Amino acid sequence: MADVDYLKSLLGSHPDFPQKGIVFLDIFPILRNPVAFETLITHFVHHITSKTLSRIESKKIDVVVGLDARGFLLGPIVAMRLGAAFVPVRKKGKLPGECVTVTYQKEYGSDSFEIQADAIQPGQNVLVIDDLIATGGSANAAGELVNKCGGKVIEYLFIIELTFLKASSKLDAPVYSIVQVD
Ligand code: ADE
Repeated sequence: MADVDYLKSLLGSHPDFPQKGIVFLDIFPILRNPVAFETLITHFVHHITSKTLSRIESKKIDVVVGLDARGFLLGPIVAMRLGAAFVPVRKKGKLPGECVTVTYQKEYGSDSFEIQADAIQPGQNVLVIDDLIATGGSANAAGELVNKCGGKVIEYLFIIELTFLKASSKLDAPVYSIVQVD
């Protein structure tokens, strides 16, 4: 598929960043290039409208949840294209008002995530988006936050999936990734 190969060819690869043993995959070369960024967003929206929506009775996504920090660069654009709300999941202590919190393990270290308590209404259909899924710890934590608010995760979306870490088996909804790295 031409757009997938094009996007894959633009990814940066940085050995031993941010620490030894991690090969950091960088999406910023895609965002730097307006044709590539448009290709990326259109790929996600085409996947959602042609595949994901068929699994939902209402045929409507209500909320796109973007994960701190690079999910904030993708989520709002996908949400606007779908006519959905955008809701951020942020590192603990950054969001005002009443929040719901969960703690999770990362590929390197642990962290806590929060969502504003009134951001998702019970029964709403939610997509979770981030740049990359590694162990799935952050995606799983975001899914827990959505569930605690009464929402339903329909799908987890990523540009890159580190398939050798087998994160998708831990999640409560299907995973869609554009580029798989094994
Ligand atoms: N987040 C967790 N693992 C990563 C990796 N290998 N590259 C980029 N972001 C990451």
